[in-house]
Amino acid sequence: MKSSSVGKAFGRVNLLGEHLDYNGGCVLPLQINRAVTTTMEYKENIEGILIKSGSYNEEISATNFSNKLNNWADFIIGSCDYFNRFYEVDIKNFLINIDSDLPIGIGLSSSAATCVSMINALSNLFEINLDQSTKVKIAYNVENNFVGVGGGIMDQFVSVYGAIDKALFLNTKNNDYKLVPLFKDYSFQIIDSGKKRILSDSPFNERKELCNKSAKKMGLKYLCDKDMIDQKDQVLLSNSELKVSNHVVEENKRSMKGCEALLNNDPKLFGELMTQSHNSLANDYEVSCEELDQLVQLCNGYGALGSKLTGAGFGGAIVTLIKNDFIEGLKEYILKNYSNAKFI
Ligand code: GLA
Repeated sequence: MKSSSVGKAFGRVNLLGEHLDYNGGCVLPLQINRAVTTTMEYKENIEGILIKSGSYNEEISATNFSNKLNNWADFIIGSCDYFNRFYEVDIKNFLINIDSDLPIGIGLSSSAATCVSMINALSNLFEINLDQSTKVKIAYNVENNFVGVGGGIMDQFVSVYGAIDKALFLNTKNNDYKLVPLFKDYSFQIIDSGKKRILSDSPFNERKELCNKSAKKMGLKYLCDKDMIDQKDQVLLSNSELKVSNHVVEENKRSMKGCEALLNNDPKLFGELMTQSHNSLANDYEVSCEELDQLVQLCNGYGALGSKLTGAGFGGAIVTLIKNDFIEGLKEYILKNYSNAKFI
């Protein structure tokens, strides 16, 4: 064991395939050049671990890793807990410092990046050569079984397997994936709406429950086992089940088409799919809000090829696809019409 170590992990923006990773669907996230860096340093006077975070301006100590504290430190404590379950190491007398230029709580996967950076720091510290799939598994367990926000595998997967210059097309039913090149003269820009959201307080788990119920009623393991909601299903499902099912089934097709659009260098089609995705997230999945809708409209009105909310929704950021020559103009236009906006 070393006396200090560092772990780093990047955030992501999801380009298409929203709320599909817990429905056995295809997703298309992209790593972003914003990361969480975790350092561990041996300190004899610390009993268990002392966690410091500049973002929260707070220090939290923990000795028993099976105790959840119901705050941000749970991602670190949970990572220690699950790392222990996998490798039975003795994590004590450590100062853990979390440094991040990845904004928190705006849909860019800061929680998965925190877990993966901590797991990287732990594997460096104990000189355990973790394979990528184990990292994903541990981080997934931390979020779902320790913290208890029931997302899918997308965020952890892209933080471990993704790249900054290539989107990651992932089929969450079997974890088959490929890295796909981005468009040359067009970029994805991320804009924070300033509307805060805390995922554990949002009705995220309610949506997931609706999806599970709908799949069960239709005799499916996953909603994405369907490629069309037919008349028989319409009778079977309640109105809200029908709406979430429609989003999921159609969004899955958009993800696959989006991957093809990247491969065929067709940014126009990709943009259209993004806006369709946003409208479906707003009207059928009902996870958008006024601020996100307004930013999408402003970007598209300015001349972006398409825009959508990114991540879980309920506030946070949008992503827009725009010709590189128009980026500066877009920035000016958005800030003039939505002064709270922040380009990431
Ligand atoms: C959150 C979850 C992800 C995914 C997205 C929505 O970020 O953590 O697993 O479900 O929402 O696409």
